[in-house]
Amino acid sequence: MITISEKLNECLKSVRKKTGFVPKVALILGSGLGDYADGINIECEIDYHDIKGFPVSTVPGHAGKFIFGYVGEVPVVCMKGRIHYYEGYDISDVVLPVRLMKLLGAEILFLTNASGGVNNTFKAGDLMLITDHISCFAPNPLIGKNIDELGVRFPDMTQVYNKDLQAIIRNVAKNNSITLKEGIYTQLTGPSFESPAEIRMLRTLGTDAVGMSTVVEAITANHMNMKVCGISCICNLAAGMTETPLSHEEVQQAANDAAPKFKKIVTESILLFK
Ligand code: HPA
Repeated sequence: MITISEKLNECLKSVRKKTGFVPKVALILGSGLGDYADGINIECEIDYHDIKGFPVSTVPGHAGKFIFGYVGEVPVVCMKGRIHYYEGYDISDVVLPVRLMKLLGAEILFLTNASGGVNNTFKAGDLMLITDHISCFAPNPLIGKNIDELGVRFPDMTQVYNKDLQAIIRNVAKNNSITLKEGIYTQLTGPSFESPAEIRMLRTLGTDAVGMSTVVEAITANHMNMKVCGISCICNLAAGMTETPLSHEEVQQAANDAAPKFKKIVTESILLFK
């Protein structure tokens, strides 16, 4: 059976056959930022299907792609379409793209996502700077034989979200008069939304926003010593906080509505990343 390292190296070789582009920032585009890449100076795009060993289903047109290009002078690789655990992939496959982007040269991982607001002071459409996370409801992506070339067996997670990057993002929001909430993001596996009782539990535990991605990617990046930052778009108040049932359509609509301010913060922050 092929090991995770071997699969990763196959993907790396496959990408390197198509481009020599060396990104500085890896950006994972969550709901609402799907068309972000339209605003960047694109050098090259690689469909996930065209990367040997990459964890995508064989449904044509359904996977996503890496977009290599420049935000100002900053070389970036964007993931348009992330891999979710709830799709049925092994957790090591869910985080393979993050490892791949690091091996391509990325030093910074900028995570974005759509989430449900758990904090009572949040409202739909808010943006939240992720300052820490709760990972224990999702499988740990580092389970299995440690890949020593990438990082240590027992990586510290005291400061996953880089303080300097957080300060830059905070400042950009302030300078653009964009309200930026801050808080703890908890990843559950999904795909079902949470029950009201689960949301009360998560609030008791200190969760401000809940979603189905991001934390496993942050852990993987931190394992490899990447600098990590993340912003979550609060697309709805979580289950039981309003009368209305949750729907994917509502989430997408709120994400689309928040897209302009979301894009502004992401772009201006990337320009300031050192
Ligand atoms: N729960 C989990 N994931 C989500 C939600 C939610 O309420 N909204 C958007 N993604």
